[in-house]
Amino acid sequence: MKKEIEYLKKYYNGSINDAIKRLEAGEPVQYIVGNVDFYGYILNVNKNVLIPRRETEELVEEVIKRSKMFNSPVIIDVGTGSGAIAISLSKELKTHVYASDISEKAVDVAKENSINNKADVTFFKGNMLKPYIENNINVDILVSNPPYLRKEEKVEDIVKNNEPHLALYAKNNGLEFYENILINAKKVLNDKFLIAFEIGETQGEDIKVLALKYLGDVNVEIKKDLSDKNRFVFVYNY
Ligand SMILES: C[S@@+](CC[C@H](N)C(=O)[O-])C[C@H]1O[C@@H](n2cnc3c(N)ncnc32)[C@H](O)[C@@H]1O
Repeated sequence: MKKEIEYLKKYYNGSINDAIKRLEAGEPVQYIVGNVDFYGYILNVNKNVLIPRRETEELVEEVIKRSKMFNSPVIIDVGTGSGAIAISLSKELKTHVYASDISEKAVDVAKENSINNKADVTFFKGNMLKPYIENNINVDILVSNPPYLRKEEKVEDIVKNNEPHLALYAKNNGLEFYENILINAKKVLNDKFLIAFEIGETQGEDIKVLALKYLGDVNVEIKKDLSDKNRFVFVYNY
């Protein structure tokens, strides 16, 4: 709590006493302040979007490195939430990015963040890869941090009671959205491609099996985050 109060004092503009009351009632400090710093970009956040996490900055960093394998890649961010991944990639790579979310309210937040940061992102509202399939968009790099928690998974109260469940939970042992993307991936991916997933720490091997099942002879790499947990899967053909 001490750390959060320090954070409030530094970043909150309104009455600090009201803010502390909200904190004590269990609200995340980022929603109270109303924005976060993600990869050096200030993003508005509210209860309609997941608060972007540090691991996701690591995902962005890794995608930036791997993007050098492509010449002007077409990049998509599936389940964009606040727009964190799409906006930071657009800014860092000085390129256009497509992003989508099933939640109209999340897309509204992401659009506002994109404008505020002068990023070059086109947004769609839609289910997983559907907007890209419908718009005949051929993709080189597909990035996604989809919902991946199992319904019965133990989740901190502050997360469960505040962040949108649409952003957290997935059926089929948390694998629903990885499988949905991998089943349909061939409809959007170019021959040379990279899929970059953020994952739950126990899901790597299952996602590898799904990637090989739906995409055939491709490279699959499970990668740890800075806390030494398996948190990313890269599926690629280059
Ligand atoms: C874990 S959050 C990730 C948000 C953001 N990309 C980030 O990394 O901070 C997952 C996002 O997927 C979206 N989502 C859930 N189901 C979806 C679906 N069927 N199609 C597209 N997006 C979906 C949620 O609304 C949420 O914004």
